[in-house]
Amino acid sequence: MVESGQPAPLFSSEYYQDPYPTFAWLRENSPVHEFRFPVGDVRMWIVTRYEDVRTVLSDSRFSSEGGRWGNEEFKQAGLVSGAGSVLEEAVTVVDPPAHTRLRRLAMSTFTPRRVEEWRGIVRRLVTSTLDRCAERGRFDVMEDYAGVVSAGVMGEILGFRIERHQELVETLAKVFPSDPALMRYVPEGMAKICEYAERLVEEKRRNAGEDLTSALIRAEEAGDQLSKKELVAMVAAMILAGSDTIRAFVGNAVLALLDRPDQARLLRERPELAGSAVEEFLRFEGALSTVLFRLTTEDLDLAGTKLPAGSPVIAAILSANRDPLRFAEPDRLDITRTGTRHLGLGHGLHNCLGAALARLEGEIAIPALFERFPGLVPATPREEIRYIESWAMRRVVRLPVEVAEDGPVSAAAGPSA
Ligand code: HEM
Repeated sequence: MVESGQPAPLFSSEYYQDPYPTFAWLRENSPVHEFRFPVGDVRMWIVTRYEDVRTVLSDSRFSSEGGRWGNEEFKQAGLVSGAGSVLEEAVTVVDPPAHTRLRRLAMSTFTPRRVEEWRGIVRRLVTSTLDRCAERGRFDVMEDYAGVVSAGVMGEILGFRIERHQELVETLAKVFPSDPALMRYVPEGMAKICEYAERLVEEKRRNAGEDLTSALIRAEEAGDQLSKKELVAMVAAMILAGSDTIRAFVGNAVLALLDRPDQARLLRERPELAGSAVEEFLRFEGALSTVLFRLTTEDLDLAGTKLPAGSPVIAAILSANRDPLRFAEPDRLDITRTGTRHLGLGHGLHNCLGAALARLEGEIAIPALFERFPGLVPATPREEIRYIESWAMRRVVRLPVEVAEDGPVSAAAGPSA
């Protein structure tokens, strides 16, 4: 794709800092775009238009089972998610009928009563974390606020002992490094998460509580239950899918509001907008640029492009959510926007299993920061805020802020779109 006059090549350093011009170009010129994936130089396609992304996520000819449907090149490059670990059986990487069964058992534990109980946990953790941030006066939203709240909530919900929270935060930092040089620690971090999950399941089998892990152990549908391995994979998948995503999401939303003091003010003045604001944040810049790989199960045609069987396909949800064919003024953040039907939490069979928790945490944690610190301002020049170089996750590395007495300083703010 690199020709003069064209935007940054996919997955280049420049792209990671600002992928939107690349997405706009692709939507316009090559909506089902063939390229070479940087890991293993694998031939792949990326899909960037809203309608096509929805098709990839809901058409059963796009499988999540990389080990079964992926071509040799894809498998040889080690791109099959969870291969060789307990995560091979995770809900994220299996197709029906295995997926239907795992998903039904897991969903039976997300009862309205349990989600309501999580509200109390989130509020308490948000308040205590804000107290610590207030003592500091200057803090990093990613490390000291979003990271602590997201890992803390996940720990409490799944039933971790309190002393393991900090350890979880550190392990997650290993699994989702901000620095590409730290990629070599990923397998170690992954193994630790699986080990955590295994210990947790064993502990809750001996000593059940009111937490989600115990509920998953008890979950039963028509006499069917999750096996030990499936339980460990489910708990590990929740830790992996449900902590750093929330951290990224809260960080991106906070940055969007720091950039647009008018929207931050509106949210403070009209707390009833929290629900629509969260949907808009998920559309505007949720935690993920793309979802996990899909593999074509047969030769097929997608929007005029021929894809051979076994082809890896990346669905760019961040691009779909900025598609002008679907959203009016897609690059404008408007927390009063309604009926967005964004793809920030996915779509189809594999849509986010933790959506209720993601929304709940967002609705509490994002407004709470601006309510507590009406004078919150960036503590670093805007151009120094960097995004991590991850093909799937979109989040800033650090977001230093300080609590000013006199309200937001407009000079420190970035784009006003
Ligand atoms: C703002 C936070 C979150 C975002 C943006 C997010 C986004 C997503 C997306 C886009 C998918 C679809 C992946 C795909 O199709 O390949 C997904 C799936 C999933 N999410 Fe989330 N998620 C969030 C929070 C959570 C939380 C808190 C949990 C756990 C409680 C969770 C657990 C899962 C699981 C287990 C799946 C796989 C579901 C399946 O394959 O059937 N997520 N999430």
